[in-house]
Amino acid sequence: MTATVYVNGRIGDDTQALISVLDHGFLYGDGVYEVIRTYGRRPFALDRHLRRLRQSARLLDLPLPHSDPELKAVVDSTVRAHLDGPGSAAPHSELYVRVVVTRGIGELSYAAPQAPPSLVAIVKTLPPHDASLYERGVRAVIVPMIRNHPQSVNPRIKSNNLLNSAMAMREAARRGAFEGIFRNYRGELAECAMSNLFVVQHGVLKTPPLDAGILGGITREIVLELAAARGVPAQETALHDEDLFGASEAFVSVTTRELVPVVDVDGRPIGSGVPGDLTRALLGAYRAFAQRNSGGGC
Ligand code: PDD
Repeated sequence: MTATVYVNGRIGDDTQALISVLDHGFLYGDGVYEVIRTYGRRPFALDRHLRRLRQSARLLDLPLPHSDPELKAVVDSTVRAHLDGPGSAAPHSELYVRVVVTRGIGELSYAAPQAPPSLVAIVKTLPPHDASLYERGVRAVIVPMIRNHPQSVNPRIKSNNLLNSAMAMREAARRGAFEGIFRNYRGELAECAMSNLFVVQHGVLKTPPLDAGILGGITREIVLELAAARGVPAQETALHDEDLFGASEAFVSVTTRELVPVVDVDGRPIGSGVPGDLTRALLGAYRAFAQRNSGGGC
């Protein structure tokens, strides 16, 4: 992967990017992150992502010494360095931007380091859309592991502690699926390893509420705003297996892949087994919104 990386003030390619083995982000996964993408090579919904980064840091009691303008400047300078460097070889590709803040360099103990937090930004080309994802939809599976309990590593925190999701994604891949769907500690459907879950039942758009123990996805947030703006009835409500298998449509939402129709779960078709009309309409509305609103804000 040819990435352009910012580490604590220095920008280089991923072979030059060095972080200490005593960084608590490396040793303990003690840090928070955001994944942003570009449209027209300009960051989309950066304000919302930085707001969530601060919320994650607050929930982890991790001081975030950088202001939003400083974080935006780091994103912009790393994006620009990538476009002038490796990115120039793919002039029409969009970009993936990962911003990571860790607890910083410390001792081999859980004691909070004296050093300041580490700030990293990683920019790489966002692999182009595989059109079949949207034309044919994807398969998902319900995984045996449950989503973190909110009183464990709270899923509301977009933290570097990603083993829960990594295990679910490995299980999904093992079963030939695009995504793994978690249930939560109450047995309700929660979200997926790397995306939020939506179903459509009798024309009503439904998605698990934040208190189901999920990440407050930015894409999820925008989908609900777009649904409201279009008069589409929508509910944030507890969902169980039967709500999914009895749905006429389902999709997952994530920054990097927008809205991906789910047409099969555990080998059982969802609805007619093809992407649904409301899913398609919301995907179109989302893409139009994103194209109109890229440039860091919104
Ligand atoms: N993942 N839920 C989980 C557990 C996620 O990891 C993500 C995003 C989402 C969707 O959030 P958003 O709409 O803000 O992208 C939901 C990112 C892309 C990642 O970890 O790579």
